[in-house]
Amino acid sequence: MVKRHDGRAADEMRPMVAKVGIIPNADGSAMFSFGKTIAIAAVYGPRTLHPQHMQNPATGILRVNYDLLSFSVADRKKPGPSRRSKEISKVTEWALAPVLNLEEFPNTVVDVEIYILQADASTRVAGINAAAMALAHAGLPMKDLVTAVAVGKIDKELIVDVDKEEEDFREGEGATDFPLAKVSTKDEFTLLQLDGKIQPDLIPKALDMATKACEKIYELQKAALKESIGGNK
Ligand code: CDP
Repeated sequence: MVKRHDGRAADEMRPMVAKVGIIPNADGSAMFSFGKTIAIAAVYGPRTLHPQHMQNPATGILRVNYDLLSFSVADRKKPGPSRRSKEISKVTEWALAPVLNLEEFPNTVVDVEIYILQADASTRVAGINAAAMALAHAGLPMKDLVTAVAVGKIDKELIVDVDKEEEDFREGEGATDFPLAKVSTKDEFTLLQLDGKIQPDLIPKALDMATKACEKIYELQKAALKESIGGNK
């Protein structure tokens, strides 16, 4: 059995918190945390897109901006966009877009702002979990939610919800970080990235572990959304 530095089982996530409606001036908002990784997301729109030449008369556009706050990481992060933040913003857009019906809002943009208040790895997946709830909270028509988690590998064994110490883990093959997002109630993955190496025969098991983890996360997302409309009172 794999030994994790914080005593978690291989398929055990860090304590999670999900809250909806944390930013009153946004059209939708939410926070999601995996242990010490805290993400907030705010949704603005649909609003008419400017400049006009960027408008699409066939559909609204999803625009995601992901960033780490300067003091969210051990070495202060220089403010402003970076290659990494642009990549994460783009893959987050692709992870969320399949559940949205933005054809109903031609010529508009839906802005999703994701900020990481504190980072202990798995920030992109925490951001996706928060953003999916914020989009639902904004009342946008959605086919489903999106749920995300990172699978990793220690001593050739798979683990879920990778933290920074695990992400930095170095053995012969190097560290493995396999962030995934899926349509919450379907076997449709909308984000599959791989940093490091994984044996091809481990991939089905990794997808299975991620799916089981996402089922638990999805329950939390739903409970937080219900609470925001008074459903749990
Ligand atoms: O956060 P995520 O795992 O989605 O993405 P990553 O690029 O693999 O980053 C892993 C972790 O490295 C982040 O969650 C942070 O804890 C840390 N990091 C950092 O300390 N300073 C940065 N400028 C970027 C990331």
